[in-house]
Amino acid sequence: MAEGPVAGSPPWVPQEVDLTRPNAARVYDYYLGGAHNFDVDREFARRAKKLLPDVATVALMNRQFLQRVVRELSHAGVRQFLDLGSGIPTVGNVHEIARAINPDARIAYVDNDAVAVAHSRLLLEDDDRADIVPADIRFPDTVLDHPITQQLLDFREPVAVIMCSILHFVSDDEDPVGIVHGYRDALCSGSYLAVSHATTDGRPDLAAFGEVYRQTANPVTVRGYHDVATFFDGFELIEPGLVFTSQWRPENPAGVGDDPGASGAYAGVGRKP
Ligand SMILES: C[S@@+](CC[C@H](N)C(=O)[O-])C[C@H]1O[C@@H](n2cnc3c(N)ncnc32)[C@H](O)[C@@H]1O
Repeated sequence: MAEGPVAGSPPWVPQEVDLTRPNAARVYDYYLGGAHNFDVDREFARRAKKLLPDVATVALMNRQFLQRVVRELSHAGVRQFLDLGSGIPTVGNVHEIARAINPDARIAYVDNDAVAVAHSRLLLEDDDRADIVPADIRFPDTVLDHPITQQLLDFREPVAVIMCSILHFVSDDEDPVGIVHGYRDALCSGSYLAVSHATTDGRPDLAAFGEVYRQTANPVTVRGYHDVATFFDGFELIEPGLVFTSQWRPENPAGVGDDPGASGAYAGVGRKP
């Protein structure tokens, strides 16, 4: 990981950052209006926007789902979160939302992008109940056994595992279901799994959008309802089940509109019995 920032750059720019290829973490940051991205990411985002003009809205709907999940589970008494593929910190991070409800909440963020890791470290350096695990989420044992995870989370108590907008970066060859089960098997009863996942169901134009991600460091595999539902094997989906992101316990149900499939992603939360 980063030994230090690139000379003359802000401290969140790590030495090993790859400026030759757009990267999902930085492109997503750009969609959400963040400032931790580079020309190569912005240029890619502009091309992606031509294929999916409302991509920023799609990204925001995903982020808002994640935030509603953290709020709802915190109210249900969950005090520990494992946020896999957590991204570049932005407004309304998991620890901020969880602690507004349970001030003692503990959060392990996990990402393998250099900028996401460096910026998360900076943000969390004085926080002894939240930290970033620099790891690849495709290796559950590495993540779960990491000293930071072990120090922050007690798996004898309920943990909410968050996999928002991350599993579509795992190809079928990489056994995404097996990866999810690797985390599931470490959880005690009363723990939760939250997933959001890109889909072309209700949004056929997402297929071309997924194609352009082949040029990035993070190719995308979009999946249908059945495949996303399979991630919840061994969990009981809580209300309202697996739905489009905008339909999952919306704060303003009237605002969902008559085309919820426009959110381009499925979303659900399961409880381990
Ligand atoms: C679209 S962002 C989602 C951020 C956040 N989960 C959200 O929903 O707002 C996807 C993140 O997953 C990270 N990522 C992709 N593949 C990963 C992997 N194999 N291991 C760890 N992080 C990964 C990217 O670096 C990026 O930060």
